[in-house]
Amino acid sequence: MPQLSVVVPTFNEAGNIAELRNRVAAALPGIDWEMIYVDDDSPDGTAATVRELAQGDSRVRCIQRIGRRGLSSACIEGMLASSAPVVAVIDADLQHDEKLLPAMFDALRGDDLDVVVGSRYTQGGSMDGWDRTRVATSRFATRLSRLVLKADLQDTMSGFFMIRRAAVERCVRAGMSGVGFKILLDLFATSPEPLRCRELPYEFRNRFSGESKLDTMVAWEFFIMLLDHYLGRVVPIRFIAFSLVGLLGLGVHLAVLAVLFRGIGASFLIAQTAATLVAMTFNFAVNNVLTYRDMQLRGWKLLSGWLSFSLACSVGALANVGIATYLFDQRAYWLLSAIAGVLVGAVWNYAVTAVYTWKKPKSG
Ligand code: GDD
Ligand code: MN
Repeated sequence: MPQLSVVVPTFNEAGNIAELRNRVAAALPGIDWEMIYVDDDSPDGTAATVRELAQGDSRVRCIQRIGRRGLSSACIEGMLASSAPVVAVIDADLQHDEKLLPAMFDALRGDDLDVVVGSRYTQGGSMDGWDRTRVATSRFATRLSRLVLKADLQDTMSGFFMIRRAAVERCVRAGMSGVGFKILLDLFATSPEPLRCRELPYEFRNRFSGESKLDTMVAWEFFIMLLDHYLGRVVPIRFIAFSLVGLLGLGVHLAVLAVLFRGIGASFLIAQTAATLVAMTFNFAVNNVLTYRDMQLRGWKLLSGWLSFSLACSVGALANVGIATYLFDQRAYWLLSAIAGVLVGAVWNYAVTAVYTWKKPKSG
């Protein structure tokens, strides 16, 4: 019976799988542990590597998610797949110090803590190997994130922690957002009762093999997650993202229109048509990478996605104009008529594309 499940989210980490298991095994003598690797169908064959390892070590398991991406949601799934009373989350790349695991486990043994966080900021912790901008960004995000936290935590951005499984379950039921990569922040912000926590310092190491997946998009995901915690229960967060992208699209539309119509003297009809096409394509592309990052369409699906998106938005535009003109004819103020039309169009576009363009995969 495992007392401790070590959950490892992976994306293209084939070169780290066995080394991590070896180090975890060496760090945890006397504790019954298991390891659950949660892989999002990495192209480098990480899942196959884990299964191969699992064939020789029954303490190792693989959850392979196909058609989904996301660090937080992978961690949640791994933790929920555990039968152990205590679960840990650790990166696959050996940047987190597995030698901290026994101390974390000991700290949780008493009754007075729900979670122990491996922290890079408390005295003794370090962030060697990070460049200055990353350190600065991370510090800024940490400060911002303390605003949503119900606990006094130094390293809110840590991806290394140990927690009681029951506490995780409560958080998931209370509606964690599961978006993005800030799983710890998500747990703390969602927990119905404040999580009792302690931080233990450790030295953040350099990556063993492979490269980092957390690109610049994580800033956007972080922003969306914070918004979700404030507004998510009132307005679907994807709708907000979708509308923000729509606003950008309006800017693109006007820019193209200006260049074609005023700049090179095309007819208004041609200029307006071209601007609409460009803006629609822009909106589709940006929504695909930002709003629906976790269900991003790729390859040939981009084409059918773009078609259904354009079709939905064309109908949305008709509805927009129809409603606005109707209200205007009913003597509503012109600006209000226009805004009402835009809102109806936006809700329509959002609702229809959420169902037909970015279909939820059947497995999720
Ligand atoms: N399943 C899955 N799906 N795993 C993922 C995904 C994903 O979409 N994206 C990243 N991972 C895995 C990686 O394979 C790795 O094991 C771990 O998540 C962390 O990813 P890295 O790419 O190594 O992130 P990092 O080193 O830049 O970021 C670390 O530091 C941050 C501190 O700001 C991580 O520990 C973060 O959790 C932490 O917040
Ligand atoms: Mn890393």
